Amino acid sequence: MRLTVIGTGYVGLVHATCMADMGHTVLGIDLDALRIESLARGRAPFYEPGLCETLQRTLESGHLRFTTSLAEAARFARIHFVCVGTPQRPDSNAADLRFVDAVIDDLAPYLRELRGWCLVVGKSTVPVGTAARLGDRLGRIAPQAEIAWNPEFLREGFAMQDTLRPERLVVGVVSSRADETLREIYAPMLRAGTPFISTDLPTAELVKLAANSFLATKISFINAMAELCDAMGADVMTLAEAIGRDPRIGRPFLQPGLGFGGSCLPKDIRALVARAEEVGLGESVAFLRQIDEINTRQRRRAIALARELVGGSFSGRKVAVLGAAFKPGSDDVRDSPALAVAAAIHGKGAWVRVHDPEATDNARADFPGLQFTLDVPKACEDADVVLHLTAWPEYGEIDPTGLAAVVRRPVILDARHTLDAARWRSSGWTFRAFGRPCPG
Ligand code: UGA
Repeated sequence: MRLTVIGTGYVGLVHATCMADMGHTVLGIDLDALRIESLARGRAPFYEPGLCETLQRTLESGHLRFTTSLAEAARFARIHFVCVGTPQRPDSNAADLRFVDAVIDDLAPYLRELRGWCLVVGKSTVPVGTAARLGDRLGRIAPQAEIAWNPEFLREGFAMQDTLRPERLVVGVVSSRADETLREIYAPMLRAGTPFISTDLPTAELVKLAANSFLATKISFINAMAELCDAMGADVMTLAEAIGRDPRIGRPFLQPGLGFGGSCLPKDIRALVARAEEVGLGESVAFLRQIDEINTRQRRRAIALARELVGGSFSGRKVAVLGAAFKPGSDDVRDSPALAVAAAIHGKGAWVRVHDPEATDNARADFPGLQFTLDVPKACEDADVVLHLTAWPEYGEIDPTGLAAVVRRPVILDARHTLDAARWRSSGWTFRAFGRPCPG
């Protein structure tokens, strides 16, 4: 089938390449001419395992191409996926909808010129009610065009597999024709047994926010338990393992540590609270404010413990930070807990040197006060404390004995709970982690 994907950010580019890889003929659209130019040459603007190869393969096979023209998009296909950003508004916690609104306003006049039915499918994360509002707006200009909503559940770092082999497909539709069209687009996945949940627009919109809110709740729950463990001498890792064995609870997303960051979880829980308040139901989701507060508290706890570990003041201390990305497997630094902690410590007078295998270029642009290196021993040279803040697997391979020879004092805070405490301690390190008993 022929389809367009409007917006070549994370969701859009991954969707476009995966749809092309499945055999559809896809036109990717973005306002950013430089981005379109480099995409056409097979260069992805961010790091995502498997994306570059698929991009190049689908460009070569002719299943994918790019343009900046919405007029061309309207002529190219009857099905248009809208994948533009809905960031948090600068003045409030609500989602900023100006980009989705603009796509509808700019695309609709071109669709009006066409005869026949067409389908505009939103994939962006939006407050409930947006799809219906956009459907009205679209219908006023192009009465033969219809809206549908198809939320995206991909995780950065696993985006290709999450898109090609999703756990479920959720679509909000207003007609059986839209339902059938989306089933046809996703036919290979449906044949492979992927559940297809077809519902109305508000349910589809809310599923996405509810899913991210639930994931955020799991993370803050385990971090709250880690706080209790610290006070009560209990071990949060054993606790997570033990409660996670109950299939009603489940082990995923019970990894304690510095909490969640990124471009989705923090913004989505705030946007859901903001929308609930708008409709007079703030109290029903008040717990999500608490989830947010528990989350940001983990950053303050890490800073306080780091300060204690360097003797009570950061002034003139050298701090090594392992990890800058908001999570391993990604070069994304948006709302990165690691960088928030690094920047705060730098702001309190420490010299901070940060290592990250993928995210230093992105981080450097936003945090000019921090020093960055691609070499772990260099990041740790003469350090008074090492902070492990993003759980890249390679940090688990570090030889603690070798690193002890480089630092000024062998002291480490494992804020992600992925390092082998016994190994570090037996190599002479003072090893601390939240929610874990501290021997001696
Ligand atoms: C999240 C959701 O997992 C996706 O399903 C959703 O599609 C996406 O948001 C989105 O809305 O677009 P993502 O932001 O890529 O995906 O990252 P996650 O893997 O969910 O991790 C989010 C944050 O939580 C990271 O900072 C991670 O380090 C942290 N986390 C995750 C924990 O602290 N503990 C855990 O157990 C799991």
